[in-house]
Amino acid sequence: MNGAPTIDGLLRAGTAALAGRSDSPGLDARLLLGKVLGWDRAALAARAERPVSAADAAAFRALLGERRAGVPVAYLTGVREFWSLPFAVSPAVLVPRPETEILVATVLERVPADAPCAVLDLGTGSGVIAVAIANERPRSQVTATDVSAEALAIARTNAASLRVDRIRWRRGSWFDAVPGERFDWIASNPPYVAAADPALAALAAEPREALTPGSRGLEAIERIVEDAPRHLHAAGGLAVEHGADQAEAVAALFAARGFEDVRCVRDHAGLPRVTLGTISDIQRGTRP
Ligand SMILES: C[S@@+](CC[C@H](N)C(=O)[O-])C[C@H]1O[C@@H](n2cnc3c(N)ncnc32)[C@H](O)[C@@H]1O
Repeated sequence: MNGAPTIDGLLRAGTAALAGRSDSPGLDARLLLGKVLGWDRAALAARAERPVSAADAAAFRALLGERRAGVPVAYLTGVREFWSLPFAVSPAVLVPRPETEILVATVLERVPADAPCAVLDLGTGSGVIAVAIANERPRSQVTATDVSAEALAIARTNAASLRVDRIRWRRGSWFDAVPGERFDWIASNPPYVAAADPALAALAAEPREALTPGSRGLEAIERIVEDAPRHLHAAGGLAVEHGADQAEAVAALFAARGFEDVRCVRDHAGLPRVTLGTISDIQRGTRP
């Protein structure tokens, strides 16, 4: 017996070390040890009694230390699954959230599978929304924008490694990136956390500009809702993700800007997280 820790022993110790510091300590420990050893979770489970070298155990403990300090597990592994696809992430982009799959599902329900459809993803980050839609709807023409050049570089890399090659990438602030262009559907998960929200403290590792647009939290959504009609075809629609406590305010913005059939989609916990509406009178979009 050489005393080397086993996979199972390291996972138990890692789970205990992350308790109270992570919502999913066991999963995080498995993902981090899997990163060190180059194995997936099934391989770890199948080799639970196998000894781990001192160097690998030390590398695992170093990752646990970073995780305990608040670094998201996705930044430590460099990958996050979204829409059942593996996306590379770095501290230059928001870690994709499961709620955003609701936005993707909402838009996909309205993008035909058998006809061309121009879709815009505003603030693409790691590219999850654009890539998921382009992958599910091969006949769509997807454009993705971000103000961050680093984010766009990661999004392009993700599209290439997932072999989704029909996305146009544009850099610029919201609709400045697509001057004079119109789309059938616009999707956005913009920054929407108010600058003084205490929740930001736990998100310090993620890019501030991906999380908060200003003091009220609604500034980016206001900009997008105001300008969207000028970039939609008749009968086109806009869908935005927002905070659960912003649904009423966002619906009011949609209605005031002339959107019709405004509705809200709730997450699995019953919280309102996505608001959408369509525009029939595109003249509104050309008003001064
Ligand atoms: C909440 S993150 C969403 C990222 C990704 N779409 C997702 O769902 O994981 C918001 C994104 O908007 C981008 N962003 C912030 N301000 C912007 C602006 N003025 N114009 C365009 N994109 C902006 C950020 O760089 C960030 O990538």
